[in-house]
Amino acid sequence: MIRIVSISLLLAVLGFSFSADKPVGPETPLQEVLIALGDKTPDHYVATPDPKQVQLGYELTTTGRAKTANGYSPYISSIFVCTDCHNQVQEDPVLANPNPEDRLTHAVQNGLPFLQATTFWGIVNRETWYNDDYVRKYGDWIIPAKHSLYESTQLCARECSSGRTLEAWEWEAFRHYYWSIQLKLGDLDALSEEDYNRVSKAIRSESADMKSSTLSFLKSRYMTYSPARFTDPPADFSKGEEGTVKGNKDIGKQIYDISCKTCHRYGGPSLFTLDESKKTFRMLKRNIGKHNDFSIYQITRYGTHAEVGHRQYMPLYTLDRMSAQQLEDLRAYIEFRAKR
Ligand code: HEC
Ligand code: HEC
Repeated sequence: MIRIVSISLLLAVLGFSFSADKPVGPETPLQEVLIALGDKTPDHYVATPDPKQVQLGYELTTTGRAKTANGYSPYISSIFVCTDCHNQVQEDPVLANPNPEDRLTHAVQNGLPFLQATTFWGIVNRETWYNDDYVRKYGDWIIPAKHSLYESTQLCARECSSGRTLEAWEWEAFRHYYWSIQLKLGDLDALSEEDYNRVSKAIRSESADMKSSTLSFLKSRYMTYSPARFTDPPADFSKGEEGTVKGNKDIGKQIYDISCKTCHRYGGPSLFTLDESKKTFRMLKRNIGKHNDFSIYQITRYGTHAEVGHRQYMPLYTLDRMSAQQLEDLRAYIEFRAKR
């Protein structure tokens, strides 16, 4: 009883409360349910996103600066905006099974770019960031980012964006904006009427077991982190995955159009343009077998190094963001366009 009272008191203070006239449903923020079931409140928590802050965060995300009382703030980066590498909406059709094949189909159907970095949508609902090989390969200095949305935002504003550290007000704006695109119960994979009832019951229950089993159940319906496995290119660039994987040029065209060209277009964040000319496709084809940055194998799997003030950075594609099959698809498209 005491626990129930304290939870509802806490929620009342935080501006959100569960009651009989306000049952849990598809619009209920996931985080509120997790907290009511006994989960830890994240450090970056914001109970009610402030619309003014959300607007500032949206401007910073999409344009790199925001209109404040003192005019426009200085750009975070002179090269990139967050949306060059991160979507802002759902990108995986099944949240608990993110994979690049389904994501590409979903991107084509919904007019989204297919990018190296993960979406901001639901980013507050993750429990770790820069996972797997980001820590393993980049080293211990990335650990603070792994365990903090604040640190990973700062890291990305500085390093990935070839930009700078965010001011305190900018972080506040990002934080509120992120919460405005948090997951709701209805976003989780296929919750039934029965599941909603179970959640409602568990929130009101005094049984710690029921609460924790419902918590685990909810966490099985989305990912609490985005997987990030690095991979090496095929051993022999000229052969690629020959013999094991056959490329599909139509899928390769999708990758070229909604991935590569989002940056390599006229006026994009890269000075290197990928267009529709035979010359471009021939250049790409000629370099496939070579061990340099113009080989699609090398550039996609290793990217380029971020050097603040120097070279622009192209993030690598992890296995979770582009499969070996998709890379062969891209190759098939390049080879097809080079000979036409
Ligand atoms: C040039 C590409 C690029 C730009 C620009 C960029 N990011 Fe990132 N970002 C990445 C990559 C690559 C990762 C690696 C982790 C992932 O998302 O898979 C990442 C990760 C993150 C993460 C951790 C996500 C996770 O779940 O691991 C946050 C937070 C983040 N970026 C915030 C930002 C913000 C805020 C901006 C704009 C100020 C920004 N990023 C701009 C490429 C970029
Ligand atoms: C998020 C933005 C982004 C995406 C998406 C992207 N690139 Fe890049 N790429 C860059 C940047 C930045 C560079 C660094 C060179 C520059 O801009 O001057 C680069 C460099 C390259 C280079 C080497 C050029 C040089 O001057 O060294 C090649 C080749 C390349 N990219 C191919 C691709 C292909 C193929 C894809 C799609 C599979 C792709 N890129 C997707 C941003 C991107």
